[in-house]
Amino acid sequence: MSDTWTTPASPGDPLIVDPASAAPFAERATYAGAVAAVRAAAAAYYNGSDLLMDDATYDALLARVAATETLRPDWKRADSPTELVAAGVAAGGDVVHSEPMLGLDNVFGEEQLRRWAGRLEKLLGRPAGGLVVEPKIDGLAIAAWYVDGRLTRVATRGDGRAGEDVTGQARRAVGLPGQLAQPVTLEVRGEVFMTDADFVVANEMRTGHGEPRFAHPRSAAAGTLRAEGRAYDAPLSFIAYGLRRPVTDIAGPVPHSVEMAALADLGVTTTATTGGMTVWATVDEAVAAVEAVRAARGTLGYGVDGAVVKADLPQDRESAGSSSRAPRWGIACKFPADTCTTRLLRIEVQIGRTGVVTPVAVLQPVQITGVTVTSATLHNFDDLARRNVRVGDVVFVRRAGDVIPEITGAKLDERDPASIPYEAPVTCPRCDGPLDRTQKRWRCARGRACGAHEALAYFATRDAMDIEGLGDKIIYAVVAAGIVTDPADLYDLDAARLVTLDRMGEVSAAKLVASIQSTRQRPLSRVLIGLGVRMTGRALSRRIARHFGSMRALLGAGVAELQQVEGIGPERAATIAADLVELTPLIGKLTARGVNMVEPDAVRLAGGEASVAGVAPAASEPGVLPLRRPDGVPMRVVVTGAVPGLTRNEGNEAVERLGGIASSSVSARTDLVVVGEGAGSKADKAAALGVRVMPAERFAAMVAACDAGDVGVVTAILADG
Ligand code: IVH
Repeated sequence: MSDTWTTPASPGDPLIVDPASAAPFAERATYAGAVAAVRAAAAAYYNGSDLLMDDATYDALLARVAATETLRPDWKRADSPTELVAAGVAAGGDVVHSEPMLGLDNVFGEEQLRRWAGRLEKLLGRPAGGLVVEPKIDGLAIAAWYVDGRLTRVATRGDGRAGEDVTGQARRAVGLPGQLAQPVTLEVRGEVFMTDADFVVANEMRTGHGEPRFAHPRSAAAGTLRAEGRAYDAPLSFIAYGLRRPVTDIAGPVPHSVEMAALADLGVTTTATTGGMTVWATVDEAVAAVEAVRAARGTLGYGVDGAVVKADLPQDRESAGSSSRAPRWGIACKFPADTCTTRLLRIEVQIGRTGVVTPVAVLQPVQITGVTVTSATLHNFDDLARRNVRVGDVVFVRRAGDVIPEITGAKLDERDPASIPYEAPVTCPRCDGPLDRTQKRWRCARGRACGAHEALAYFATRDAMDIEGLGDKIIYAVVAAGIVTDPADLYDLDAARLVTLDRMGEVSAAKLVASIQSTRQRPLSRVLIGLGVRMTGRALSRRIARHFGSMRALLGAGVAELQQVEGIGPERAATIAADLVELTPLIGKLTARGVNMVEPDAVRLAGGEASVAGVAPAASEPGVLPLRRPDGVPMRVVVTGAVPGLTRNEGNEAVERLGGIASSSVSARTDLVVVGEGAGSKADKAAALGVRVMPAERFAAMVAACDAGDVGVVTAILADG
């Protein structure tokens, strides 16, 4: 039978283990050691500190502990994590739960899910009267009490019996309203978590306040929920998956699906809020629904570590009952973990087109959620130093949805004592010139000029734009004269300007200008080759051009669409998407100069139907830029006050880079005002005029997401304000 949602990382990979076949420990001392290790990892997990173990290793170890206890019940320790909620490590609190908050047992594949369903059927003496399938949200369980429709108290799960009071912070969670639509009294149970977009924002806030990044959205949510007296409020979200009291207008115990829909009507976000909740009649249908959750995992915008299958009817739940740890009426189908461990082989320094210098981790290849990951982002050098990651370390690597994998920390207890801290470069890795290290993101002091020669020469090559007469010497001369810094500037050259250069006569100047202008009608594939999109070569650039047909379609494509092109896997797709975002301003500049952005003979899919891409005039192909209005007109943006991590100039630069026009005064024509600390009357004026306002932290996060190529995050921030 196929195991649909757990593709083993590689044959014999110890990370994904079927607990039913987990090997028991032969020695009692090894068993006790494993119990201690699981408890320590669970303590780190539940208290929101940095990870000690990735989820898959944790599950595997726990499975071996359980297998040992089945074989040798006499060895079983009182503090065994197999018996206790939250492995018995999470601290209790002052708020006693109305009924213990239990956990869920796990299964790791279709076969085990079917076995669980078989056991449930046996317990009930008939098939369950309906199964529901929900995403298993990767956050923290909480109980929230509403009295007469008002949110009065929120507590963590704690030790399952009593939890900590987190009412203050939980009130901020989106999806957990302070007031319900009706004055009902009830208890809601569900998960507090951080969305992927909010995780970016939260880390910007953290690092902006000189604190280390959160390692994972779950630890970010845990830390934020318990935070007291912080100078910033990181965003939180909530989704309910349980109700402890019937909604007053519904008589008697009702099915879970009905409760979740009713709770959603009261204003709480529940597992039924998006798309409702289907009740499945058969296990086959439930299996398919689990697979659908797995397939949608990367697109939900928040961490999902599995799917939960539950009996829908209250009488079925009653009959099935619970163990001391978990109910028998529900089961968690765990997906492969999004965080795995691997070795950091080396740190390379990448330099972007704008001169930004970034450390990139080269990893021992590791499978994460079905994809081989070989490299990961390390954000910036400050961050790298703060995370204390060294070459040779075993590191945690996280791959969530479509985002580029990142290193979230190192396993310090496994560090080679002979290892040495990473030494950051002191000069530009491309031109060996000085680095500007005044900002978080280091740059070559020459900025765009660094590498301009290389980029121009590549753009002009025969296989790319094939610009006759644009040789090395001329490229050096125009770059040195400061009249060309990127390929788009070539199209602005005129003969009068060229003749001022050394050894350039009138005739050759005119010839060169004509030659450059004649390349404006080259097909899109040539433009793509000339831009030198990372991880693409000539053949792949041509395939991409043929597939999408136009630059607009290509820029609008997400990582998933890019993967439809032959030869593009998830990692390459993420890099290409990120690089295209970086290239968007240049593409816009080329478009504005009349460079064609269409592949004449391409057959592309439009609205689901195959159509031939028309050769539209180049000017009708505006680049997709976040700060453009739907009609392509640049938004007028005013940045006032401090933007974390950016100087005033860089803030304005970022506006332009994202497609907008940076302006200094607020008027009715202003589209957006970015408001940071120290903002004065401009913020008031924006409010008075009803102009859209965006907090500087969110803007900084949008810029960072744009630089990281995370179109999804950019869109989410823009949509949200
Ligand atoms: S039902 C009696 N539904 O997963 C416990 N739990 O690993 C009933 N979780 O403790 C829990 N999404 O914190 C349920 N849709 C969902 C869930 C979910 C996330 C968490 C919850 C639970 C843990 C068990």
